[in-house]
Amino acid sequence: LEYAAASKDMKGLKVLVTAGPTREALDPVRYLTNHSTGKMGYAIAREAALRGAAVTLVSGPTTLEPPLFVDTVPVESAREMFDAVTSRAWEQDIIIKAAAVADYRPAAVSEDKIKKLDGGSAIALERTDDILKHLGEHRRAGQFLCGFSMETRDMIKNSRAKLARKHLDMIVANNLRVAGAGFGVDTNVVTLITGEELLELPLLGKDEVASRLLDEILARRKAKKV
Ligand code: CTP
Ligand code: CA
Repeated sequence: LEYAAASKDMKGLKVLVTAGPTREALDPVRYLTNHSTGKMGYAIAREAALRGAAVTLVSGPTTLEPPLFVDTVPVESAREMFDAVTSRAWEQDIIIKAAAVADYRPAAVSEDKIKKLDGGSAIALERTDDILKHLGEHRRAGQFLCGFSMETRDMIKNSRAKLARKHLDMIVANNLRVAGAGFGVDTNVVTLITGEELLELPLLGKDEVASRLLDEILARRKAKKV
């Protein structure tokens, strides 16, 4: 019923959303990850589908139900997410990268479980590829690219730097120090940043943040006449 009632202002648009954390294996029993639960990205995918878009959701491991009428592609590592996203990127009108991608992975994955020894230990790490930066550098004309930015300090300055470095149209800045924002909760407090503008949203449910974000993206696509 909800699907019937929603306005279909995204009909004909192809949207790709990423969500959740990635898992970077160390050995057959251990991995590196982060606190992302996927709630924000799933809310965006669900809302875009409600509004009539053809939605692909590339999701790291979460405990959430795949949203109805969304093509959900499960992945684990940053490398798997890179492949799943880049192979589907070209045809998308809008890409929204809400996933918390690991910046580092263990340089080697041990085939056997690593045994403990006396004393300390060090894990050698290597950088993962920046999926969003790659998308910004290989983008089809007219495609709208939106990233997320998680910061604990200098949120606006650091997020603006990411917007420029990754060639994005918009970045959704998340201050982890604000109550009601960030990991695991059903609410969020975000600032939408484009080249020129800054729009601070109040504390809202993640569904409402998703809806406001899509409104702003649609308005900017229209202004750019794409
Ligand atoms: N991102 C990505 N691939 C990576 C790392 C990040 O696509 N390997 C994307 C995230 O999905 C997010 C955006 O880049 O949309 C910003 O992520 P964030 O972690 O805030 O910024 P980083 O550029 O990784 O910088 P740092 O972690 O050092 O703040
Ligand atoms: Ca990062």
